[in-house]
Amino acid sequence: MSSNITAMAGVKSLKDIDVTGKRVLIRVDFNVPMDTHFNISDDSRIRAALPTINYCIDHNACSITLVSHFGNPKNGYDERFSLRHIQKRLERLLQKRVEFIEDFEASKSEIASCSLERVFLVENIRFHEGEKKNDPLLARKLAEVCDVYVNDAFGTSHRKHASTYGITEFVETKVAGFLMMKEIEAFSKALEKPIRPMALVVGGSKISSKITLLTSVMEKVDKLIIGGAMSNTFLQALGHEMQGSLVEEEYLQTAKEVLEEAKRHKVKVYLPVDVVITDSIDHPVDVKVVPVQDILEGFKAVDIGPATLKLFSEAIELSNTIIWNGPMGIYEINQFSKGTYKLASAIADCYAYSIVGGGDTADAVEKAGEKENFSFISTGGGASLELLEGKILPGFEKLDRNDVKGS
Ligand code: 3PG
Repeated sequence: MSSNITAMAGVKSLKDIDVTGKRVLIRVDFNVPMDTHFNISDDSRIRAALPTINYCIDHNACSITLVSHFGNPKNGYDERFSLRHIQKRLERLLQKRVEFIEDFEASKSEIASCSLERVFLVENIRFHEGEKKNDPLLARKLAEVCDVYVNDAFGTSHRKHASTYGITEFVETKVAGFLMMKEIEAFSKALEKPIRPMALVVGGSKISSKITLLTSVMEKVDKLIIGGAMSNTFLQALGHEMQGSLVEEEYLQTAKEVLEEAKRHKVKVYLPVDVVITDSIDHPVDVKVVPVQDILEGFKAVDIGPATLKLFSEAIELSNTIIWNGPMGIYEINQFSKGTYKLASAIADCYAYSIVGGGDTADAVEKAGEKENFSFISTGGGASLELLEGKILPGFEKLDRNDVKGS
């Protein structure tokens, strides 16, 4: 796992180049949560990109073109996915006018010939069919409006898209932004030089989506703490009757193998000893806490119970490095959120170096009011998962390198 981080840490960053008088295109990840009235409910990702944007402004870049996706539009323009809804917030945070580019193709020559210090925000790049297809035509068009390409979209760096990957073929100078470097540094501290014991806390609904992670971390971690619906499959594999709980039958054998593998590597595994069960997720009438041996017929497990929380908290307190990826239950529903929120507080309260994978886990930490009490919260859910799995993220792959002569 160390090699992928070392490789990614070796890319050139913005501080290694001169942007004065240059046209800079920054790929950012402004895919922020928004309600149906277009209110931004968490602008962390926009704030996280500010150091890179401000650096370019302060160092007199001639123009700054911000490119991002927003959600997953299927057939071209769709107002619900327009980046226009974040223009005001961005202006407020930057304290600078931001010009919205609705039609990139039509405005291309204006952006490319810009000689004043202007900031452009391009409409959702996923409205272009070529973005997700990594179409070289789109990649080339994006490259034509800049002299320097900066990738600062850590949350999207696991995607091989035209604006995150393909564009690097057509730009001479391509570097990482400050957010990308900060993310790598944070994970490097946890994975390359961890202060032991090191615990990985995994949750979320499916073992299938975390299997690569589970098998790739065995040599790194001392403790594996497993909660959320994915623990149901482990518990069933150990012979517990999980009744109506979500269990991935086809992964029962895999779960057994993971436990065997952990034993072989002397990794201590912690699984729930009690769970919150309900008769219905959408309309719960009967909700109770039971030992995992006593799940009632017709009920399903939806959260970890208090005894499990105590067990997990004690294991966490004795750790010096903690990585957390995946909630402990259906935390979006108030009644089933206690395990996740209390675990967030347990990790926040200990003195370990604590790092949270983005996505749902970051959202849960924020809702638990513990955001400030973690050492680092990643802005990337899928990206941090792939990084933990030992992969080199495409968003870093083709950037200039510090360790290569002439780049
Ligand atoms: C995210 O929200 O995880 C990133 O913005 C990536 O989005 P995607 O999964 O739609 O590529």
